[in-house]
Amino acid sequence: MEGEVLVSKELLDLLNDAIAREIQVSIQYMWQHIQWRGVKGFAVQEELKKIAITEMKHAETIAERLFYLGGIPTTKPKEIIVGKTLKEMITQDVKDEENAIKLYKEIIDKARKENDITTAFLFEEILKDEEEHHDFFTSLLEEI
Ligand SMILES: [Fe+2]
Ligand SMILES: [Fe+2]
Repeated sequence: MEGEVLVSKELLDLLNDAIAREIQVSIQYMWQHIQWRGVKGFAVQEELKKIAITEMKHAETIAERLFYLGGIPTTKPKEIIVGKTLKEMITQDVKDEENAIKLYKEIIDKARKENDITTAFLFEEILKDEEEHHDFFTSLLEEI
């Protein structure tokens, strides 16, 4: 049974865009974790796995919220770009985190305007994680 839609179509679409990105990076980082032949070795490899799992949890959290609001969560990831060299991998990851930060600020703003406090709060929590990821990848990029 489909529920009542509680927010605008635009906000639901933004949430689905967020889910597609979370699924993408979840797989992307996990496959990078597997293919990593790093100068920094084990520590980075483990961190990639940890971040991949965090992204999957984000996907779940957002999908749950979207479904509650009356939308149907997408199963389609955005294009997954693993990269061949370490530099390619991390350059792509920095970009993806930047895009996530930009999108999540937009979602927080829109959710607040629609008086959807819970969605705004959820994305504030997720945004903190993305800023940490961005920080990790940019620092790493300086070393490779
Ligand atoms: Fe995420
Ligand atoms: Fe992230």
